[in-house]
Amino acid sequence: ATTLGASAAESGRYFGAAVAGNRLSESGYANTLAAEFNSVVAENAMKWDATEPNPGQFNYSGGDQIVNWAQARGMKVRGHTLVWHAQQPGWVQGLTGQNLRNAMVNHITNVANHYEGDVFTWDVVNEAFEWDGSRRQSNLQQQLGNGWIEEAFRAADAADPNAKLCYNDYGTDAINSKSTGIYNMVRDFKSRGVPIDCVGFQSHLASNENLSSYQANLQRFADLGVTVEITELDVGQGTGQAATYETVTKACMAVARCTGITVWGVTDKYSWRTDNPLLFDGNYQKKQAYHSVLAAL
Ligand code: XIL
Repeated sequence: ATTLGASAAESGRYFGAAVAGNRLSESGYANTLAAEFNSVVAENAMKWDATEPNPGQFNYSGGDQIVNWAQARGMKVRGHTLVWHAQQPGWVQGLTGQNLRNAMVNHITNVANHYEGDVFTWDVVNEAFEWDGSRRQSNLQQQLGNGWIEEAFRAADAADPNAKLCYNDYGTDAINSKSTGIYNMVRDFKSRGVPIDCVGFQSHLASNENLSSYQANLQRFADLGVTVEITELDVGQGTGQAATYETVTKACMAVARCTGITVWGVTDKYSWRTDNPLLFDGNYQKKQAYHSVLAAL
């Protein structure tokens, strides 16, 4: 096939992009997104600060805009993210103990209920581990203790039993201390019946990244009985950019339980990074990295 989405679909996979709703009015942006991708994720619009700016007051306007736009074009929607230490509204940052627990569960319940049937997979918990494989000492970890991730997954499962529920993180692009800490948590969850379905690998990469154990790492998670998704792929500019994209794409294609790839934006000019890490340049021209990915799908 001649587009990323259609090529990924030939093997039952998706190829998505992170979307900022305020860019959808730009024709180059909208046309590229609609033509090349068959999945979207909200870059910011479904995060806690956007969806619950005040306690118990939910605002779904930004997320709904993206969902409606995608559904009108037959595209799937990933959900990102129910719980994260960053981009929390101010009122959450000051909560302690049971008040924080109640706020977390209430947030998950409302947002997952709202998007039930629209979102095929949720990043339930984002970035909860440190490089050494220990838990990040976030307000959630400090106030709620080790059980908070399990509580979050159980709340998401109760709210939307059909969505796939993912743990998502960065720096997990090799068999390393961090990915092993997450691996041990997933293995424990699976053994005890905690509802986790997938692990997201953000894959914010450099052009000279060592990816020698990337595929083996995906595979060891898949062998636990979860699916794996590449959720926020971008690769800094440099001579290895296209080759790095190719390696990641081939790794996903080689792992049966790797269900899809999302790149963290459509065009370099709106990337959160300044090192031109995406597949289309600022004029929506296909880069070498695009052609390498398409050929690998
Ligand atoms: C980033 C967005 O791209 C920015 O627009 C925002 O200012 C900060 O967050 N890991 C994640 C994403 O899980 O949600 C982050 O997105 C990038 C790193």
